[in-house]
Amino acid sequence: MISNGRLEWPAFALALLMLIGVGQAIGQTPPTGVAAPRLEKRGISSQLIVDGKPFLILGGELHNSSSSSLAYMRPIWPRLAAMHLNTVLAPVAWETIEPEEGKFDFGVVDGLIQGARQNNLRLVLLWFGSWKNTYSSYVPAWVKGNTERFPRVQTSDGRNTERLSPFSATNRDADARAFASLMQHIRETDGDVHTVIMVQVENEVGVIPDSRDRSAAANAAFTAAVPLELTSYMQHHRAALVPDFRAMWEANGGKTSGSWEEVFGRSALTDDLFMSWYYATYINRVAAAGKAEYPLPMYVNAALIRPNSQPGQYNSGGPLPHSMDIWRAGAPSIDLLSPDIYLDDFAAWCQKYARPGNPLFIPETRGGADGAANAFYAVGQVSTIGFSPFGIDSEDTAAAFPGAESGNKEKPRGAPIGDAYATLSRLMPLILEKQTTGEIGSVVLEGEAQRAARISLGDYTMTVTRSVNVPGDAPAIGARTSALFLQTGPNEYIVAGSGNALVTFASSTPGLPIVGIESVDEEFFEGGQWVPGRRLNGDENSQGQALRLSGDDSAQGRVYRVRLYRYK
Ligand code: DGJ
Repeated sequence: MISNGRLEWPAFALALLMLIGVGQAIGQTPPTGVAAPRLEKRGISSQLIVDGKPFLILGGELHNSSSSSLAYMRPIWPRLAAMHLNTVLAPVAWETIEPEEGKFDFGVVDGLIQGARQNNLRLVLLWFGSWKNTYSSYVPAWVKGNTERFPRVQTSDGRNTERLSPFSATNRDADARAFASLMQHIRETDGDVHTVIMVQVENEVGVIPDSRDRSAAANAAFTAAVPLELTSYMQHHRAALVPDFRAMWEANGGKTSGSWEEVFGRSALTDDLFMSWYYATYINRVAAAGKAEYPLPMYVNAALIRPNSQPGQYNSGGPLPHSMDIWRAGAPSIDLLSPDIYLDDFAAWCQKYARPGNPLFIPETRGGADGAANAFYAVGQVSTIGFSPFGIDSEDTAAAFPGAESGNKEKPRGAPIGDAYATLSRLMPLILEKQTTGEIGSVVLEGEAQRAARISLGDYTMTVTRSVNVPGDAPAIGARTSALFLQTGPNEYIVAGSGNALVTFASSTPGLPIVGIESVDEEFFEGGQWVPGRRLNGDENSQGQALRLSGDDSAQGRVYRVRLYRYK
């Protein structure tokens, strides 16, 4: 038990045990003195570095309440490890660690770290502090019950909502103290082992259903001048601002001083930008307090905007594409602004967030067959540092493959995410290397209507066309199909993917010479290395004219090595 931030003996003994015992047993103890997990620019990408090496998060986020009970978690850990996850995203609630003001209890946190270590998994902890999906339902009872001391977001008729107001320094400082204690505890118990590799600060913040807080403190801030830190950031970064944001500012005269409505115009979107600044600066203080104790990479996550919805119908003030510059100016202690992508246009949302200075991390998204296809896209085309379907503890094999059976009777299908992660984890060293050089790319066909997509990599252009089943193929496993290309030589690619597709190859320079397939070999990962299987020709590669990807590839642990040649 920890009281007032000080470690008492039983907890100290447990911490020591966790550090020297379990960590070593599963090979998570890095050599002494290895720096804490961090983000680092390597070649053309930014990567997460864990124990001195690049790391790709093949993750999954638990349902919101699972991590509150260590007993509930006990059977879940090994299932997640068996699905080839390397990282679990697990909530830690303010109400759990500080049930009484100033008295901390890290029993559940310690148990989560232990459970992860025993199953050779890393953790991203999700700080459910002041806000979770706009609400403040995870704050301790002593905060919940005292609305005088801990003021709320109010509606225009002066009524409190169940959301702490970001305009209160008392709210912010109480959250920051709790978060700092958590980070101090993680440093003390995990600072040499690095089971915890990253932290999410709050969860899907913003205001709903109004476009902004209408409390007296919020109204005063709204009519006051836009803070100088923001206007000078906008001036200094004008050329690099997100185009929509810059256009909105400039359409209103590009003013460098004035109230929020003077600078950005009178609209609900201005309310959204205003809330963004105050959420960002509040969360920045919480994150900075935590980083002062233990500087792990930290991010915030965004609930995205459905088409045609207005601020307040979506989380007004969240880290959305149009307010990214406000968040970056207001929250320099936050390393990443990350999208929770449940909407259909997965690739477009990835591209909106994978911006210079904001490496992509996808903390929440769909699992199942859609997730499997999206994972290949995200690692290949937008160099994500991690991918993480939500509700991973109930990822359901049967539901993901209604009525489908494996083409190969010897190997029943696993969960599609597990199969995709098996392939991606085996390819991981190559993926991480190629993310730094750009010799990697992928496409995703997002719905039945999208028949084909093209990608150029090196001297070749690949066309990936959705294919219907032919005898011997696996059943189509969903509307999404993806293909990942890793260039391993001037004329050679490793190809993996999800779904049935035909891949044809052409020269990136139009005209002669003609590109032909020299060979296609299937490869399987055995005994820690890739070994060749069949040389595929004839019916198996459309008489030498195409590579055929099957929806069964990941389940079979199969990738392809394709060699091309040119002729006149
Ligand atoms: C998004 C939230 O961030 C998660 O915590 C969870 O509530 C999911 N929505 C549920 O779909």
